[in-house]
Amino acid sequence: MSDIATLQNQILAAIGAADTPDALEAVRIDALGKQGSVSALLKTLGQMSPEERQVQGPAINGLREAVTNGIATKKAELETAILNQRLATERLDMTLPAPEAPHGTVHPVSQVMDELAEIFADMGFAVAEGPEIEDDWHNFSALNIPDTHPARAMHDTFYFPRSGEEQRMLLRTHTSPVQIRTMMAQEPPIRIIAPGRVYRSDSDATHTPMFHQIEGLVIDKGIHLGHLKWTLETFLKAFFERDDVVLRLRPSYFPFTEPSVEVDVGYSVVKGKRVIGGSEGWMEVLGSGMVHRKVIEACGLDPDIWQGFAFGTGVDRLAMLKYGMDDLRAFFDGDNRWLRHYGFDALDVPTLSGGVGA
Ligand code: PHE
Repeated sequence: MSDIATLQNQILAAIGAADTPDALEAVRIDALGKQGSVSALLKTLGQMSPEERQVQGPAINGLREAVTNGIATKKAELETAILNQRLATERLDMTLPAPEAPHGTVHPVSQVMDELAEIFADMGFAVAEGPEIEDDWHNFSALNIPDTHPARAMHDTFYFPRSGEEQRMLLRTHTSPVQIRTMMAQEPPIRIIAPGRVYRSDSDATHTPMFHQIEGLVIDKGIHLGHLKWTLETFLKAFFERDDVVLRLRPSYFPFTEPSVEVDVGYSVVKGKRVIGGSEGWMEVLGSGMVHRKVIEACGLDPDIWQGFAFGTGVDRLAMLKYGMDDLRAFFDGDNRWLRHYGFDALDVPTLSGGVGA
């Protein structure tokens, strides 16, 4: 028998005897590794005369192939055997109760934002977004609040240091700049809500430097105050889940709406607590009005063709009124006890699947 055939028999026997992946790997290294017996033979091909190589080449390569195939087959066999062994010995008791994983709650602000998106989606409103770091133009000027306007003083604005000639950047003081961005980005008709964070330098039991607002904007032809009133009434009834929600519209002033309307919602006193519904007392819940011609113009639209209404309200405040919290600061303390008490179970959140007008 030739040397090559003998070597092949030896290696195949070693492969056959290897009974673990590690043992098989050792055989592989002995044969095909850098210093391996097969590799050594392959190296000798270089020194052979062409005639010799013609005979030895196919034999040595055949050896390499036989060894490589033998190892691959054995490897698959060993893996199957290991898997079968595990399947035979490992057991999973499906009847054991799963260990309880810690889980959080849905923050009331998230919950209320979801409720609002759902209510307004029913009325055909899409959700729009804008940046929290805003420029002066979108936050003020385009909303008809020029530099010298006293209304700027109403917003305790966080400004960024001015850099060069560029316009001043700030943390948006309301969600109204999203009105501007939406009107500039899309053709009317427009029906959007824009929920998000806003910032003002203010802090006490009912004010935090960061809070949440939701803006609403409708731009279309022939829109009037009646549409605004119906929309707000429908929204507030759906949100508070009561039919006896009564609204009171009071004339007001915002630079970006004309006329401007402040909306109060009526409450009753039940066991010493204020409950939305009825009209024993009034609570202001939102600001609104017909979008000012100048704002429509600033966005490049013709105010003789397009009209609309806008409204803005505090999401945190709506949450407090609906779910009975009394200190706004607790919303942002991250106190787990508060969150467990007021938060919502992610799998059991109240939804408004009854929908608007149901
Ligand atoms: N942006 C106003 C605020 O922050 C609210 C508002 C929005 C009023 C839209 C009218 C129309 O107070």
